[in-house]
Amino acid sequence: MNVIVVGAQWGDEGKGKIIDVLTEEADILVRYQGGNNAGHTVVADGQEFIFHLIPSGLLHPGKVGLIGHGVVVDPEALLEEMQRLKGRGIDVRQAVKLGDGAHVIFPYHKRLDVAQEAARTGRLGTTGRGIGPCYVDKVARCGIRIADLCDRQSFPERLRRNVEEKNRLLQLVYGESPFSYQELLERYQAYAEQLAPHVVNGPRFLRAAMAAGKRILFEGAQGTMLDLDHGTYPYVTSSNATAGGACTGAGVPPTAIDRVIGVVKAYTTRVGEGPLPTEFPPQLMERFRARGREFGATTGRPRRCGWFDAVVARHAVLINGCDVIAVTKLDVLDDVETIQICVGYRDGERVIEEFPSDTALLARCEPVYESLPGWRSDTGAAERFEELPPAAQRYLKRLEALLGVPICLISTGSQREQVFRVGSWLTGASA
Ligand code: IMP
Repeated sequence: MNVIVVGAQWGDEGKGKIIDVLTEEADILVRYQGGNNAGHTVVADGQEFIFHLIPSGLLHPGKVGLIGHGVVVDPEALLEEMQRLKGRGIDVRQAVKLGDGAHVIFPYHKRLDVAQEAARTGRLGTTGRGIGPCYVDKVARCGIRIADLCDRQSFPERLRRNVEEKNRLLQLVYGESPFSYQELLERYQAYAEQLAPHVVNGPRFLRAAMAAGKRILFEGAQGTMLDLDHGTYPYVTSSNATAGGACTGAGVPPTAIDRVIGVVKAYTTRVGEGPLPTEFPPQLMERFRARGREFGATTGRPRRCGWFDAVVARHAVLINGCDVIAVTKLDVLDDVETIQICVGYRDGERVIEEFPSDTALLARCEPVYESLPGWRSDTGAAERFEELPPAAQRYLKRLEALLGVPICLISTGSQREQVFRVGSWLTGASA
């Protein structure tokens, strides 16, 4: 069984926690896009661990994680993360595989990311990790891949060309200081040596694993609304965070995928700029931020919060072909008196029920809400759907009806054990 887990909102849906649970039924964990702009939080034994590049299921011993060709890799960040995993007793030499087609992030990408963001009239609110500029080089066909980094013969010349070009751009357009080619060459040659034992051909590695009957879990980073083609462009990240990205990014055929699980928070959050139709007024915002600990796992920025947007989530279900959905952070709604669900957008006289591609239209729309009574009691100890307060059950059933797919998992707190299954997620059947 090969499963893709994708974010069905703007990222930060709590995928790390869901992946942690599903890892019990997987042998290989794969990251297929994005880079260390992602932050997947897992709480194990009361300790918090945030994964940025390495697949988050690796806290389970005996699993193997692959960083696929669609990922952009900052070697320094990767080595630092491996070091932290080592500190937890994980044999990273065995556990971490790095696809040789993945592109490498260099310090000039990071500096360009920050300089371009500062120079923009309409800021995107990027994470400043060099993600966009690295993907730009990939598409412009001047990027440097892991295979190139590890090739001692061709790497110096490739790097020299890029450093020269980026230095011109940084100095002449952005008034930034240049990078020293020699310093970068030596530093990245040292990274190459440290990374070499982990490098594999990603698609071949996965093909062999599948032939051996291994189960693969593809971990999407960010979320559908941040997808370059299907999100709120231009307020998106530079990769395909949707399920299709798993096939191109990992190099596996679509026919190899058995299930797609979409992850939604019981409400909505977004970090960075761009429209968020259901965004709360200040008082509710503060309440959700505090109760849901809504601060970015990568940058620490406060997340913008709002009511559940069923138009967004339905769009995500359709784009990703979600068989089932997992709902996280239900407990954050525990003390809310009346809960709102956005079921459409009003633009003047017109009500829109399908997610629009026009981001300016989305920004000016007013949400159309449906109200449901809250449950005003604690859900954190529930172990079965039937143990949830009736109003919480009604809320979840309403989400299922609006999205047209069953719920397979519900998380009611940050602790590892605060999550339970509903029905059989393998068959996609509901309770
Ligand atoms: P970039 O990916 O750093 O280029 O940032 C582009 C947009 O995506 C910004 O609004 C970021 O805040 C957002 N973003 C990137 N990665 C994540 C993530 O893992 N979770 C939530 N938002 C993200």
